[in-house]
Amino acid sequence: ASTTDVDISRVEAGQTIKATFRDQPLFIKRLTSEEIAAANEVDASSLRDPQTLADRTQVGYEDVLVTMGVCTHLGCVPLGAAEGENKGEFGGYYCPCHGSHYDTAGRIRKGPAPTNLAVPEYAFNGDVIRVG
Ligand code: FES
Repeated sequence: ASTTDVDISRVEAGQTIKATFRDQPLFIKRLTSEEIAAANEVDASSLRDPQTLADRTQVGYEDVLVTMGVCTHLGCVPLGAAEGENKGEFGGYYCPCHGSHYDTAGRIRKGPAPTNLAVPEYAFNGDVIRVG
């Protein structure tokens, strides 16, 4: 199938779930107010791949970050989605292959990855996200 439906009704703030979209890992993170504040503190124009949290989320759902779980350097799966995993220096995701650090908006902050974690096309239908 070319679309993936994910029910996020049980995803709590601070939690990330993993799904699969077109045979690739997908991360869905519900941000805490602290994680939202950390993302919004950054001057987006100073970033390697300049995007705000609002650019990467949907209106009314700024606490739900949907990204591919694929490092934009050479395609490893970053850590940080599961409990207790290394979230890196910026509190989002960390790719151990060559040391890319992503922030709470999934934006590249340090290391070799050229771009932010990709945000796929998706739409909300109540508590269900349809990706693709
Ligand atoms: Fe992630 Fe190289 S594949 S840092």
